[in-house]
Amino acid sequence: MRTLLHTSGEVVVRATPHEVVCLQGADVLIHNDVIERVEAHGTLLAEFDADGSTDHVTAIDLHGRAVIPGLIDAHTHLIWDGDRSDELAMRRSGLSYAEIAERGGGIQRTVQATCAATDERLAAIGHQRAKVALRHGTTHLEAKSGYGLDTANELKLLRVGAALDGAANLPSIQNTWLGAHAIPPGMSERDTVEAMLSEQLPAVVEQGHAVAADVFCEPGWFGVESSEALMTASRRHGLEVRMHVDEFQDSGGAELAASLRATTADHALKSSTEGLNAMADAGVNVGWLPGTPHMMGMDLRPPTDAIGAWTIASDFNPNCPSLSLPFAASLLVHRCAVSPGAALAAVTSSAAQTTKRSDGYAQGVLEVGAVADMNVLRSSRWQGWCTGPGHSPFQATVLRGELILHDNGLSPSPDVFPELRGASV
Ligand code: NIG
Ligand code: FE
Repeated sequence: MRTLLHTSGEVVVRATPHEVVCLQGADVLIHNDVIERVEAHGTLLAEFDADGSTDHVTAIDLHGRAVIPGLIDAHTHLIWDGDRSDELAMRRSGLSYAEIAERGGGIQRTVQATCAATDERLAAIGHQRAKVALRHGTTHLEAKSGYGLDTANELKLLRVGAALDGAANLPSIQNTWLGAHAIPPGMSERDTVEAMLSEQLPAVVEQGHAVAADVFCEPGWFGVESSEALMTASRRHGLEVRMHVDEFQDSGGAELAASLRATTADHALKSSTEGLNAMADAGVNVGWLPGTPHMMGMDLRPPTDAIGAWTIASDFNPNCPSLSLPFAASLLVHRCAVSPGAALAAVTSSAAQTTKRSDGYAQGVLEVGAVADMNVLRSSRWQGWCTGPGHSPFQATVLRGELILHDNGLSPSPDVFPELRGASV
């Protein structure tokens, strides 16, 4: 099946930290789920008309709307049950994240609700959330386990996440094992690490759904020694290394990530300049997660501190329940002097370096041979992708070659693609 998308609006074919390659209008030919050609606006339509082959191609007029690559969310905690929105009141009364956790809130509270949930319930939750992510332009996401903690429940979360990967009309998903997310009540850090190494890690590897391992490396959760042991063993078992580092305190997480040459080290809100430099030298990609400090009333850190490669991700979790990358980007664009182009690079080509698709296609760019994942804006200008937080800026998303309309309000959709009315999800 061939589809030809054509628009006179701006089309970003690639955003990198240094440049945004933008065409003024383009014809994009899609063959099944892959981009086959990208040409100047009008070229392909004229070519197919001239040789009489238009019949074999479904041409879709995007009516001057801008197009950007599908967005990649390289850090989510997608699947969990429960509700912690009441913890805002605890924070407002002056309790810190650690103090809320000590009083039975935080991660442990979500673990209880998640362990009590069936596979079916978690699958329905994950499905709905992935759909919301798609509506905000996410076409691929990384999903961490971490709200099971015990082996059976961690395997349950990974199983549910793996079943969602490749499901129709949902972003593709990479699964990451985050068994080391919190110390279970009544256990010591040392016993927890020992149980992870001797029982849980081998079980996760045998199950085969996780491609990476992660650890919450933070005083009070997992210290640098424990984190090093867990990540080294995970790598020995063939898992990539991803880390949460220095979210509340600089405890040397960045230096550890650098010495391990981790694929990603995220948060880094308190990492020292030396730690950030070490990560840059070691090729570690730093995940900037602005939604989390925003929702906790902490200072945002400008990603210009990152020095090396960096991404923006949602960090969707019970404490930061937003799956919108346009929202996360807007925090940095509106408050930290990041340009819309640098932010777009952070959620497309840079994020593509850190999380891979199980089908092996390139992503994050509109180039020949890459997966046909892209977003159609309501606007003719690409910068609008991150300038209107609170509403999805996208009229439609092309997912693996299929155009999915979004009923996102703000502009009336029925007259936009009349030929496709009724196709929205
Ligand atoms: O990345 N900091 C560790 N993990 C999550 C939060 C988990 C939670 O509060 O449930 C994060 O922000
Ligand atoms: Fe996280």
